[in-house]
Amino acid sequence: MRSFFHVSDIGDLKTALEEAKQVKATPFAWKKLGENKTIMLVFFNSSLRTRLSSQKAALNLGMNPIVLNIGQDSWKLETEMGVIMDGDKSEHLKEAIPVMASYCDIIGVRSFAGLCDRDFDYRETVLQQFVDYSGKPVISLESATVHPCQALADLITIEEYKKKERPKVVLSWAPHPKALPQAVPNSFAEWMNAADVEFVITHPKGYELAPEFAGKARVEYDQMKALEGADFVYAKNWSCPGVSEPAKYGQILSKDMAWTIDAKHMAVTDNAYFMHCLPVRRNMIVTDEVIDSPASLVIPEAANRVVSAQLVMKRMLEGLQA
Ligand code: CP
Repeated sequence: MRSFFHVSDIGDLKTALEEAKQVKATPFAWKKLGENKTIMLVFFNSSLRTRLSSQKAALNLGMNPIVLNIGQDSWKLETEMGVIMDGDKSEHLKEAIPVMASYCDIIGVRSFAGLCDRDFDYRETVLQQFVDYSGKPVISLESATVHPCQALADLITIEEYKKKERPKVVLSWAPHPKALPQAVPNSFAEWMNAADVEFVITHPKGYELAPEFAGKARVEYDQMKALEGADFVYAKNWSCPGVSEPAKYGQILSKDMAWTIDAKHMAVTDNAYFMHCLPVRRNMIVTDEVIDSPASLVIPEAANRVVSAQLVMKRMLEGLQA
């Protein structure tokens, strides 16, 4: 595996889920695979789960993880091409990436969407430079448009907790005080469309996800109707993806607290589990009552981030050996 951005990069999903079970059951079985190998984890943005689960996964595989916080531990990096570098950015990605690549075997990158320029974000301008200038396998640790390590962990969690062969999974928009990127809902939609589930997306009008991620998923604007009979409720906020109105890209269109997942919402489901990628704003996205209930999977879901990261790194290490 040379890159991990999309569901297609993992190959057959059933095979991947079986492999994830093995990784979870025997996390230290591949300790020799990563011997004398280094993974560089590059963070342009904050993280708790991704940083720690990636480090843990690398250590489980016998690899040496190096974490770099851009702009804090390093110089500030310029990401745009052809600019006169007379501002506060001391180094360009064009030099920094090959230098970082010379110190490692695999690179993971966290680089959020700026939410100002839709084309810049949806072309994955920063992540693509890591592909172009590193010559190393690259993992998106949440980039402008995708968060595949999260989506794989979510799918592993659904597989573990499902009570039906083909469960109903609902992705519900929920309110948030700040404008957030679309990477998590984009990847969740992409992965659920590929999985053996009944998938429904619900959000206020204007929040339609980009067609390459929403695919053929049913979109239901009536949140209560969407949640009827659900087995899993996946709550997430995202800002306007700018599909029908590019000028509104990255804007907050609604803060309607009627969309906060509470006991009334959960009551119309089929005893659904509640999921969220974390970090979560309590009593904005979900009420205390729901997230503190036995239906909440947020902690096992976060724990599965180690499994998903380890599976991806294992595949990349095997690719380096081939
Ligand atoms: N879910 C997730 O990626 O968490 P962090 O932003 O803390 O890494």
